[in-house]
Order: sequence, then structure tokens, then C-alpha cells
Amino acid sequence: VKFQRLRGTHDIVGKDAELFRKVESAAREIFPVFDFEEIRTPVIEEKELFTRALGAETDVVQKEMYEFEDRSKTKVALRPEGTAGIVRAYLENHLDKTRGLCKFYYLGPMFRSERPQAGRLRQFHQIGVEALGTDSPFSDAEVLHGLVLFLNRVGAAGFTVKLNNLGTFEERRQFKEKLKSYFEPKRHSLCEDCRRRLEQNVFRILDCKTDSCRSVIQKSPLMADHLTAASRDHDAHVRRLLKQSGIAYEEDPRMVRGLDYYTKTVFEVSHPKLGAQDALAAGGRYDHLIEQFGGSPRGAVGFAVGVERLAMCLAPQAEHEPGRGGSIFVATLGEAALEKGFELLSALRESQLHAAMDFEAKSLKSQMRSADKSSARFVVILGEDELRKKQAVVKDMQSGNQEETALADLVAFFKKKVSAHA
Ligand code: HAM
Repeated sequence: VKFQRLRGTHDIVGKDAELFRKVESAAREIFPVFDFEEIRTPVIEEKELFTRALGAETDVVQKEMYEFEDRSKTKVALRPEGTAGIVRAYLENHLDKTRGLCKFYYLGPMFRSERPQAGRLRQFHQIGVEALGTDSPFSDAEVLHGLVLFLNRVGAAGFTVKLNNLGTFEERRQFKEKLKSYFEPKRHSLCEDCRRRLEQNVFRILDCKTDSCRSVIQKSPLMADHLTAASRDHDAHVRRLLKQSGIAYEEDPRMVRGLDYYTKTVFEVSHPKLGAQDALAAGGRYDHLIEQFGGSPRGAVGFAVGVERLAMCLAPQAEHEPGRGGSIFVATLGEAALEKGFELLSALRESQLHAAMDFEAKSLKSQMRSADKSSARFVVILGEDELRKKQAVVKDMQSGNQEETALADLVAFFKKKVSAHA
């Protein structure tokens, strides 16, 4: 039998693994600077957690969740996103009581059973942050500042931040009626999907890309004109803070999000290297979710970046150059040298030196090829002659220089070399 990966999943290996490592270590450097700490929640949760948080009518819940009944007959789902699990963890670990404000960052796989295409996977990865237990507009600005610094640091320049305010649930409920009465008389100009949305979720009409719908949408009422003073103040304050921090953004007064938990500030980051419909990152406030999950009413705000989409926005990774790595390759000739070489290899590793060897290769030539492939900086050559003299030849792959070193001194010799190169 020959197995293949499932559609919409990827093996992350080679240059991809390197890129993931780079992006993840940037996250681990930048988010702690903002006083975000790491959180890891389970990949699997009760299904109901997501239905409640994201909304039963959303595409993610209706069409995209990997859900099943486990052996104990519990309805579970693979997490389609990180926010719901983090809010659960915040409450379940009583962090709302012991700490109040909690600022987390997270990285990990998410699962949505979407139709696979470029930038749309069934297992994808997100890097995100959540600030829980805060209503402050300063938190919105802080989170956006973190996002922008992170994207710049990893080299995704050229992105655009789009901003909107969706108001509270109550404001939105009222605005929904306004939208309905605007679209209803124009029902005949809407596409079939939008006619259905008119009954089920009128906000989703605003997201429609069909030309005939777009022209109707363009004149639809704006959420911004239906906000209470409190929401308007929050919005104005966030914008002021963004200007202060030099964070450029565009207004997108008809932006809606695919998840129902959002309130007030919402944002999306687009990038010219992605299709117009695909966001590089997205997030916003979700002031009712903590309360919905049984906590006391407290706001929260966060975002998530799609790592695979981020990878599409970065400049291609440079190829390995021979001799660029800091590693040591041990090449041996003959049975006795192989044994001694393995001993040396182990000693180097005991001293934290990156060392490799090719146990299969017979000729020196093929071992030098392996050394090149692993972009080793130094090659230790150990033959019968050297063994007798208790020495080894060390070749510097960058300069081409060779020198003889006593076997007993080799570890010390490389420790010095490596610290000189570091
Ligand atoms: P989202 O907009 O559903 O928000 O997803 C955030 C990002 O995840 C997207 O902008 C995209 O880059 C990536 N993404 C989503 N679906 C896929 C997919 N099928 N394949 C590849 N990448 C994908 C959330 O998930 C919210 N939890 C964000 C948030 C955090 N809001 C507040 N806090």
C-alpha cells in the first residue's frame, strides 16, 4: 500500500520547515515584548464550544468543522480557530478571578474542511494573540501594533490594515433591521445566495462579490451611522491611538467578519500577493464571549495570522550555500577509522557541536558530497594514516584550507572555531 496525505494538508519539511521556524521564532520574540505569554490549548474541544462562540449560522460551523462523536459519545470538533478554546481556558483555570487581565499569544494548527486551493487548506496554522478581560481601546491599539510589528519583522511589508466598527450585539440587532428594510425592496437585483442571506444572515450580503449585488451594497446604510455614543467614542479613541503609534490603516465601513463573536473594532490585513478575497490576518474585539461562556462581563480583543498565507507573502528563501552552516562533518576511510570517527562524532555532540557523519558512504568522494549537501563548514578526515598518528585532517569548506590536528584536541579545537564564528 501507498499512502498519501489528505487533500488540503501539507507536509512541512525542508525550506518550508525553516520558514515556519523563522516565523515562529519571530512571534516568540515579539509578542513577549508586548507582555503576551504563550498559551497552548487542546486541538480537540467539545463541538458546542465552537457552535456557541462562532455562531450556529456561520459557514465555519455549518460547513467546515471536522466533527465527530468520540468513543464516549461526546460530540467533539477539531478546532477551526483558537479564540474559543482560549476563552474557555481563561475561565476554566479561573484566570478571570486570579489575574483579571490575561494576554496570550499562540501558535498551532487549525482545521477547516474547505475546498482546498492556494492559500486555503484543511489543516493550516495560525499565530495569534488574545488580550482577555479588557474593554480598553488601548488594548485594541496594542494588539494592532503587535500585529504590524510582527508582519514587518518577518518581512511581509506591503500589507494593508482595514478597519471597521461593528458595534455591540444590541446595536447590530437594530442595524440588522435597517439593512433588511433597505435590501428587501431590492431583492430582485440580488443574487440567489443573497436572497437567501436576506432571511438568514443579512450582514453576509455586504460580503458578496457579485457585480449586481455590489452596486446595491454600495448605497446600503452604514453601521457607523447607527452606533451609540459609547461605541463611537471607543472607535475614535482606537483610531487616535493608531495614528499616534504611526499605524497606517484604511477605513472599510462595510467590512463584516465570518465569525459572529465580534463587537466594535474589527480589522483585516490584506496583501497584494494574496487574492482579493483572502486575508493574511484578521481579528477584532469580542466583548460578549467571556460572559457567554459564564464569566462576568468583560471585553477581549485579538487576531490571528495565517502562517501559510504569510509564507506566500514573503520573499523566496535563499538556497543553502555550501559551507554556510556551522556544522562539522566527520569523514572516515576504513573500518577502524569509522569506529574512531563515531566516537569523535559523539564527543562533539556531547559538547553541543552540530556534527554529522554518513555511515553508509564508502569513498571519500561520496562523503565530501554528503558534507556539501549538509552545508557543513568543516570536514574532519580520518583515515588509517591519521589514526596511526592520532591525528585528523580538518578542512575548512569556506576557505579550502586544511590543517592537521591531534585527535585528543579536536573537541577543544572546534569549540574555539565555533565561538570565533558565532
Ligand atoms: P479568521 O478570519 O477566521 O479569524 O482567520 C484568521 C486567519 O487565518 C485568516 O486571515 C487566514 O490567514 C487564516 N485562515 C483561515 N482559514 C484558513 C484556511 N482554510 N487555510 C489557510 N488559512 C486560513 C479567526 O480565526 C479568529 N480566531 C481571529 C481572532 C482572534 N479574532 C479575535 N481573536
